[in-house]
Amino acid sequence: MSHIHDFTHIIVRDATENNLEMKPELKEHLPEDSVVISTLLHDVCKADIYKEAIKKRQNASGRWEEYQGYDVDYNNFPLGHGEKSVIVLLRMGLNLTDDEIMAIRWHMSAWDLSLQSPEAKGNYNAAKERCPLCSLVRAADNLSANLLERK
Ligand SMILES: [Fe+2]
Repeated sequence: MSHIHDFTHIIVRDATENNLEMKPELKEHLPEDSVVISTLLHDVCKADIYKEAIKKRQNASGRWEEYQGYDVDYNNFPLGHGEKSVIVLLRMGLNLTDDEIMAIRWHMSAWDLSLQSPEAKGNYNAAKERCPLCSLVRAADNLSANLLERK
């Protein structure tokens, strides 16, 4: 595993342990298996979207050069983000719990809400209210994306 995953694991483990120490009643909502499954597999939806592509960039002297990069192509299974991860994992035979499904589905929080959809907002808020794992996975993903994977 990469250093990012190792560090994310430490952050998630510490956050889980701190939450459970402060609020022991959360223990039944944050089983270790669910934390591991949700934090490691929430972005399975990305597994088939990156395609190698030649990109161009300006080097230090201002000359254009080509480099090997990636484009994103959603055509293979255009189903969204968190909801796609859930469906792919279920199709693979993983027996996800309700909390794991909600945490993976809503890990993008408000960034993944359909515009002006009261139903999506209601579902997101209800999931967040009844499933502490949603907040934990969202926090871990946010830390990873904004701190650890920052360029
Ligand atoms: Fe994601």
